[in-house]
Amino acid sequence: MKIITYGAHDDELTYMTQWQARTGHTLDIHKAPATVANLAWAAGYDGINLLQTTPVTRAMFERIAKLGIRYVTIRNVGTDNIDLTAARELGVHLANVPAYSPNAIAEFAVTATLTLLRRLGESQAALNAGDYLQATKFIGRELAQQTVGVIGAGRIGREAIRLFAAFGAKVLAYDPHPVQDASLACRYVDLPALLAQSTVVDLHVPGIAANDHLIDAAALQAMPQGALLINTARGNLVDTQALIAALESGHIGGAGIDTYENESANLLALHDQGRFEDAQWERLRALPNVLLTPHIAYHTETAVQNMVDFSLNYLVEFLTTGSTATEVLPR
Ligand code: NAD
Ligand code: COI
Repeated sequence: MKIITYGAHDDELTYMTQWQARTGHTLDIHKAPATVANLAWAAGYDGINLLQTTPVTRAMFERIAKLGIRYVTIRNVGTDNIDLTAARELGVHLANVPAYSPNAIAEFAVTATLTLLRRLGESQAALNAGDYLQATKFIGRELAQQTVGVIGAGRIGREAIRLFAAFGAKVLAYDPHPVQDASLACRYVDLPALLAQSTVVDLHVPGIAANDHLIDAAALQAMPQGALLINTARGNLVDTQALIAALESGHIGGAGIDTYENESANLLALHDQGRFEDAQWERLRALPNVLLTPHIAYHTETAVQNMVDFSLNYLVEFLTTGSTATEVLPR
């Protein structure tokens, strides 16, 4: 098969080359994310493989359909940036990688929680400023004493529940479609109860429009004084302006933000461009009790290899059989 891949990150290149050598398929690798214009490069290819958080639009699917290409796979989980209706209407089938390593993101959520509870950022900043005495002043809280509310008990949320429970935390969960799993040490509650009782609120829901600003000013106000908010899911879930106000007033005790509301190609390409300019990002960055990371919760060797291998395997399956189990249909 002849496959073209877009948005290749440096750390994916080895895995892509190895996959090509192992399978014998042709893989044309491009670092640029797909655009209407550069989809012209896909002429003559059998299938397209993508990784991007910028929009994959109707115009792009029109271009893909015009080239006679019917199968696209993405190397990631989230499809909130993709016009799935347009793809369907234009006869283009798309599959994602729903589980390249749910544990990678869950571990990151726990890491962010522990970092904030033990106030490591504040201590490190004091130490870096040469103030050894001040660096010893940031008394922490223990995870085992917290009530963690996991919103979205899907693949990643359930891994997070397991990890938080293993630390001894009391875990609550809210999900409109709960999976019955007796091994999960959590209690399902409704959203108001979760917000009212959780000293750590951890988000693992998709960034679909219905979840826009799920955590708004009222939700933040409903959380206990000093509670932490962890978002490794999608930026649109949190009203950032309301979060900054709640952090500045002291009502919210800290936030771990891996997926930021105004993130774009620019944030994911931070390593190439060396800068990301955004006023709210700078306000968050200035707060000592905020752990900001540039959408890297997924970023482990295991996850990146699986993103590459699984998505390319799904594309070959699509091309050879006309279907694959991870096809994503319009919501
Ligand atoms: P999933 O589909 O397995 O689970 C999502 C769960 O959320 C489902 O059980 C669904 O019923 C539930 N849900 C939807 N809306 C809800 C709401 N309003 N309240 C409560 N529950 C709700 O998805 P997943 O694989 O667990 O991924 C979760 C999120 O993580 C996605 O947004 C994905 O894009 C994001 N993600 C981020 C990174 C990263 O690097 N930061 C990496 C991978 C995935
Ligand atoms: C996802 O898999 O949905 C992510 O958020 C990871 C990112 C590289 C797009």
